[in-house]
Amino acid sequence: MILVAQKHIDRIRELVHNYSGIILERVTSRNVDKKIQNQMKNFGVNRADDYIIILEGFEHNSKAMDDLIAELTVSESYFFRNPIQFEYILETLLPELYKRNGSSMPIRVWSAGCSRGEEAYSLAMTMRCFQRQHPDVRFTINAGDINAKNLAAAREAVYGKRSLREKLTAFEERFGFELGERNEKGDCTVSDTLKEMVTLQKLNLKNIRGLNCLAGSDIIFCRNVLIYFDEHLRAQLAEKFYQCLNPGGVVFLGESECFSGTSDYFELVNYKKTYAYRKHNGSR
Ligand SMILES: C[S@@+](CC[C@H](N)C(=O)[O-])C[C@H]1O[C@@H](n2cnc3c(N)ncnc32)[C@H](O)[C@@H]1O
Repeated sequence: MILVAQKHIDRIRELVHNYSGIILERVTSRNVDKKIQNQMKNFGVNRADDYIIILEGFEHNSKAMDDLIAELTVSESYFFRNPIQFEYILETLLPELYKRNGSSMPIRVWSAGCSRGEEAYSLAMTMRCFQRQHPDVRFTINAGDINAKNLAAAREAVYGKRSLREKLTAFEERFGFELGERNEKGDCTVSDTLKEMVTLQKLNLKNIRGLNCLAGSDIIFCRNVLIYFDEHLRAQLAEKFYQCLNPGGVVFLGESECFSGTSDYFELVNYKKTYAYRKHNGSR
């Protein structure tokens, strides 16, 4: 029988926070000890102290930490979550960015904390719809997550009904554009065209320096991730996103998230309930 004492849970909580910024209580409150025990079994370790030593070496062996985070976090996501944001992108933001960039510069999009890819492929569908009217427009879509299992699922790109809700159907019907092929159970495999539009990679939002890959973005989605983090990391991310956005670029957050104290450099997008912040056009 594997025993995980409170002091071990506390130390693991600290290590998870140091590595990922995640405050454990915000992602899971139930069965933390069981989840830790599962991971210990997977690593063939019987003593919590030994498991902690493995985790402490996470800089050299991030598999143990990755697997633990995957076990502890619930990565709820679905296609066209908060559809107002996609409507705003299609009807207002893309026409403006296209006017500015023309066909010479791609519009650069990031989905940071992309879960299993639902958000990134929703963005790809939105871009394809815009491309119908403007065939010469160019895009890059990058998507990243800390959870390697989520990234593997995003690469596979097969979705069941939890991800495929009525918001996707509404988009498909409105624009006559399908996500991919459905099987008899109703699961959908994303079309190769959409898959090829999205580049997936490991991304740790706690590693602020490692976020230079977002530089030159026009659109950053970072939705329903900040809720996991403390105020300090949120403020660091607000500043980093600001640095990484092109002037006029927009960062989109989840419905219960905000950047406080950023009005000097971001303006709130005034379009229904977009939960979005726009970098002032004149800024650098
Ligand atoms: C609730 S899901 C949100 C998914 C999607 N953005 C949405 O709104 O539907 C949160 C995601 O954030 C990821 N995440 C948590 N901490 C992270 C970190 N430090 N760096 C990158 N991704 C992280 C989780 O693995 C999870 O996939």
